[in-house]
Amino acid sequence: MAYFASCPIETPLEPCIFIIMGATGDLANRKLLPALFNLFKNKALPDPLTIVGCGRTEISLENFRDQTQTALKNAGIFDAVKWNNFSRTLAYQRLSYEDAESGKRLAKALRSLDRQRKTSGNRFFYLALPPDLYAPAVNLLGDAGLGVEKSEGLGWSRLVVEKPFGYDLKSAMALDRQIHSHFREHQIFRIDHYLAKETVQNILIFRFANAVFEPIWDRKYIASIHITAIETVGVEHRAGYYDQAGVIRDMFQNHMMQLLAMTTMEPPPRFESEAVRDEKAKVFSSLRPFPVDDLRAFLILGQYARGFSTGKVLPAYQEEPGVRSGSLTPTYALMKVFIDNWRWQGVPIFLESGKRLSEKRTEIVITFKDVPHCMFRKTFDEAISPNRLVLGIYPEEHIQLSFQTKKAGAKMCLGSAVLDFKYHQNARELFLGAYEKVLIDCMTGDQMLFWRQDGVEACWAFLTPILNACEQCAFRKEMLHSYPAGGPRPDAAQALLSLQLHNKHDKV
Ligand code: BG6
Repeated sequence: MAYFASCPIETPLEPCIFIIMGATGDLANRKLLPALFNLFKNKALPDPLTIVGCGRTEISLENFRDQTQTALKNAGIFDAVKWNNFSRTLAYQRLSYEDAESGKRLAKALRSLDRQRKTSGNRFFYLALPPDLYAPAVNLLGDAGLGVEKSEGLGWSRLVVEKPFGYDLKSAMALDRQIHSHFREHQIFRIDHYLAKETVQNILIFRFANAVFEPIWDRKYIASIHITAIETVGVEHRAGYYDQAGVIRDMFQNHMMQLLAMTTMEPPPRFESEAVRDEKAKVFSSLRPFPVDDLRAFLILGQYARGFSTGKVLPAYQEEPGVRSGSLTPTYALMKVFIDNWRWQGVPIFLESGKRLSEKRTEIVITFKDVPHCMFRKTFDEAISPNRLVLGIYPEEHIQLSFQTKKAGAKMCLGSAVLDFKYHQNARELFLGAYEKVLIDCMTGDQMLFWRQDGVEACWAFLTPILNACEQCAFRKEMLHSYPAGGPRPDAAQALLSLQLHNKHDKV
């Protein structure tokens, strides 16, 4: 397969029907259909493949094809020649999630497509739906017998569930029970698209395929870790969901926790999905329970106010269409957490994410401890900066290590230098987008990059008390620091980070 010439997929892709539930929605149009088309263009999809769009809206197949074409044009990847063949893989089926008959009609349509297009009875159902429809959609599929797999490897059925997986610990457990009444664990793929980013996957290779970093990857050498995922976009057209969720449910319960686990987990004995997910689950369950009676020392929340960027006025969060007036939903959070185990005891880990900041940046910064003794004290009046390792995920996909050097010249002067590895440098392979990678893994049945339920629950068990404490807090309004849209992080967050810098006198 040309697309993966130097790094091929070992498992053959079996013919299947890919069912997008919520096919007229935002996720389908912005991510799934473009990802499928990109894979199709690069001959990286199974053949034969049928893509069935399902939705509550009654539209014709022609309308669905037009909508798909528009989505591809908007994504800037439309190709008229490839489109002809791709459009033939599309089908559309109206669904009503409350009506069991509609599930039976879907099952009948899938059986007939299987016969016509020889897709071997393999189906995968992608829930690209608002979270309140997950349970009804799963029941609909289950009651129509679509969760049942046939024996002897013929006809698998897989279910892909988007985040958020639940609203808190209780609802996540209830959703899981509901899903398990129709699907078994090996059929369930709980997505986190951050895990499918090349540079996020590279964290494990960087840590565990090099002998030099792991010995210094602990509390003896590392002073702090700062994981950042900040964005310039605001809540966009997702206020209905976001105003209920807020930044902690939207970014922390999933992406931030996965970045944390990739950075701090122990080496798994084997590179296999269960072994990797076992180690991650241990990290989640070792998170020190948050001091909910002393929230302000460990958590800064913010909400964007009206601001300016490139001469334009940016609306405040509360002015965004669909946001409840007087909403106290946080759009920014900085959290200081600790992992209670031998490796990480006492190392502060900062998790920071927010919308409508001055830049989009995703990175993990490891700050090492100071040198044990500075023999240059009499030579340089300036302090020696600690080494820093940056694992850049966006916009720079790179690994950067800063260290001290002597500046050229007759006098001994200190200077900082960086080693900078750009992930794309000299790469000749085509890079898979996160959704492309996710779809390939679902088709090959590889669950490594997907959440396992014990991890989901351990993270909710950690975050739910924080969410409850924030939401019931008497000074909830005062806890929410305002920051200008398009501007820097809230001052209170800057103060918490600066405090860490000043307190950091630890030496190796
Ligand atoms: C999504 C969140 O999961 O991740 C969004 O729901 C956020 O609010 C997005 O904007 C960020 O993803 P990325 O890949 O652009 O960093």
